Amino acid sequence: METFQQHVIDPAICIRCNTCEDTCPIDAVSHDSRNYVVDPEICNACGACISPCPTGAIDNWRAVVRDAAYSLEEQFSWDDLPEENPAIADVTPVHDAGDDEGVTIQTVDTARGAAIPPRSAATPTTNLYGIKRPAEATVVGNYRLTGADTESDVRHIVLDFASLPFPVLEGQSIGVIPPGMDPSGRPHHARQYSIASPRNGERPGYNNLSLTVKRVVAGADGNATDGICSNYLCDLEKGAVVKVIGPFGASFLMPDEPLSPLLMICTGTGSAPMRAMTERRRRLHHPDDENRLMLFFGARTPEELPYFGPLKKLPTRFIDVNLAFSRVPGEPKRYVQDALMERISDVAQLLADPGTHVYVCGLRGMEDGVISALSAAAEAGALDWPSLHADMKREGRIHFETY
Ligand code: A2P
Repeated sequence: METFQQHVIDPAICIRCNTCEDTCPIDAVSHDSRNYVVDPEICNACGACISPCPTGAIDNWRAVVRDAAYSLEEQFSWDDLPEENPAIADVTPVHDAGDDEGVTIQTVDTARGAAIPPRSAATPTTNLYGIKRPAEATVVGNYRLTGADTESDVRHIVLDFASLPFPVLEGQSIGVIPPGMDPSGRPHHARQYSIASPRNGERPGYNNLSLTVKRVVAGADGNATDGICSNYLCDLEKGAVVKVIGPFGASFLMPDEPLSPLLMICTGTGSAPMRAMTERRRRLHHPDDENRLMLFFGARTPEELPYFGPLKKLPTRFIDVNLAFSRVPGEPKRYVQDALMERISDVAQLLADPGTHVYVCGLRGMEDGVISALSAAAEAGALDWPSLHADMKREGRIHFETY
């Protein structure tokens, strides 16, 4: 009887962020409207998906008889993982990264960003609250950030945890569980949102955090249906109570050094972690923190740029803000990568600094363009991009969060 450790994903923890499917180098991970699953016929336990997963849902294994592995259909139907079968588990090598006696994990590096945090990052708290025991937060603010007559309804939503511990770091995310049931009669799964406020709250000392949420509307941006969770959040009134899980994320974190240069590149709601990091640095208020933050921010029009007002008020010696608008009537389409190219020598100078950390957040489509621009900037600065990129990943100095 041949047994093996089947790779499975815990549906009770998974926040459906698609990271595993994106990371798997051999397309063993897929999903339906509800669950992410691993094909036992394809998965070779290479481990590439393990560390990028923000929740740890991916790191689950069940000892099974080879011919009776859990099928994709079974995995799609799960709300929880099945119990271990002790009789089989006792005789099957344990899956353990780096354990010589278990399955050997080769980490396949296919990612653009690091799977590890910066060396000096503060230690994040993760998975404090799960789907079975979510935290409850009260909405204390819900403001529209985009112009009233623009198509994009992007909101700044502030959630307060009162006396409940909910420790977060800049760059982390939370999951929100929308109320109600999906068409199959099961509770909706949680949706992930990046935190837009720094670790000590939307205002220093408050036990709250903010989110940047774009209302997903059927027919806009290629969406087939209205977004269940974004519409729920965008319509919330002050005083409403929201079920929250997390916090999540252990790599997209900022260095805990008050003077390290940060190159931040974002589109739309991808500005959330950049706002958090910028505000963290502003509050640290180091007298020498000058010419170290550079931001590239893309939006359709100035009216559709979340946080346009506050960003414009920050002194340029504190943050060098470069905006790229794609839909201003009468003007050519500009993307963040175009803005990066226009500032190529300054970007090259930042890349040459071994203390620089790069953060990219927003539309997945920008990844190629941003990488090409960074590579061109490195070349302009006589740096070898492939080896610099590899070093930055190894040192936790380049991070992508795209969707
Ligand atoms: P576009 O006008 O082509 O959609 P959104 O408002 O949808 O969140 O988008 C934020 C910004 O990102 C918009 O200006 C959008 O431009 C831009 N964008 C879209 N695709 C890319 C891409 N491949 N690279 C960089 N920016 C992009």
